[in-house]
Amino acid sequence: MSALRFDQVAIKLGGRTILSAADFAVEDGEFVGVLGANGAGKTTLMRASLGLVPLAAGAIAVLGAPATRGHARVGYMPQNRGPIAGLRLTGYDMVASGVKGAHWGLPRLDAAERREIDWALDMVDARKIAGRSLNEISGGERQRLLLSQALIGRPKLLLLDEPLISLDPAHQKNVVDTVKRLSEELKIAVLFSAHEINPLLSAIDRVLYLGAGKAVLGAVDEVIAGPTLSRLYGAEIEVLRVGGRIFVMSGDVEMERDSHRHEHGDAHGHDHQDHAHADESRA
Ligand SMILES: Nc1ncnc2c1ncn2[C@@H]1O[C@H](COP(=O)(O)OP(=O)(O)OP(=O)(O)O)[C@@H](O)[C@H]1O
Ligand SMILES: [Mg+2]
Repeated sequence: MSALRFDQVAIKLGGRTILSAADFAVEDGEFVGVLGANGAGKTTLMRASLGLVPLAAGAIAVLGAPATRGHARVGYMPQNRGPIAGLRLTGYDMVASGVKGAHWGLPRLDAAERREIDWALDMVDARKIAGRSLNEISGGERQRLLLSQALIGRPKLLLLDEPLISLDPAHQKNVVDTVKRLSEELKIAVLFSAHEINPLLSAIDRVLYLGAGKAVLGAVDEVIAGPTLSRLYGAEIEVLRVGGRIFVMSGDVEMERDSHRHEHGDAHGHDHQDHAHADESRA
C-alpha cells in the first residue's frame, strides 16, 4: 500500500489548470522533497491530499483510502502559519490544539491526551519550549512546536509545507534532520516542500518536482536534470553540481533561489488558520 497515490489527477482553480495527469505514488515511510517555482502547485497538491481541493479528474488515495478531510493518520503543517505574537498561550497550548476536539485556550484534556501531547513534544525535544509563552519563542522553536503538533494522532503521512522558510542554515539543518529521524523511527512517509533542493539532499529518498502543470517523481539525479527541468520550467535549464550542491540555472539566473527570493523573511503569513491537523476546514 502506498502512503499517497495520485491516479491521473487534474486540478483546476479559478479556471486555470494547476495540475494535469499527475500520476505517482509515495511509498510507506518514504521521505520526498517537493520542489517547484512559486505557484507551481506545491501547496495545492498537499491540500488536495487532505481532501480540501476538488479534483477535475482522477483520484487521490491516502494510506489506501480515498483522500478525505479529517484523516486521522495524516499530519499537516500549513505554509501559512497565522500570526501568534501577543497571544498569551504557551507552546503546550498550541500543540494541544492539535488534539481532536480541543480548543485554543480551553484544553479539556484527559490523561491519555496529555500523554499523547508529551510524547509529541518529546519526539521533537520541545518540552522546555512548550512551557514558554508563544510570543517569547523564536521562529525555529515555533517550527519545532508545529512539527510536534503535526505528530498528534500518530500520522503515517506528514505533509510539511515549506518548514524551512525564514530559518537560517543551521536551523534548516536541524528541522530536516529532525524530520528525517521521525520518518525513520516512526515509519512516516513525508512530503516536504522547499524552495531549493540543497538543504534536503542528505535526507530525501526521492524528489517530486512540479511545473507547467506536471508532476515528476523520481530519484534526485533523474529529476534534477536538464531535460526534465527544462520541461517543467518551460525554459532551457542547466543543472550544475558544485561541491555536493546542486544549482538549477536558466542562463545566469538561479531558478530555485531567484524565483523565490521575495518570500524570504515571510515567517508569518496572513492566514489565521493555524491547525496542524488534517481536519482543518479551509476549502
Ligand atoms: N483558491 C484558489 N483559486 C484560484 N487559484 C488558486 C487558488 N489557490 C491557489 N491558486 C493558484 O494555484 C497556483 C498554485 O498555487 P500553490 O499555492 O499551490 O503554489 P505553490 O507551489 O505552493 O507556490 P509557493 O511556492 O508560492 O508556495 C497558483 O497560480 C495560485 O495562484
Ligand atoms: Mg505553497
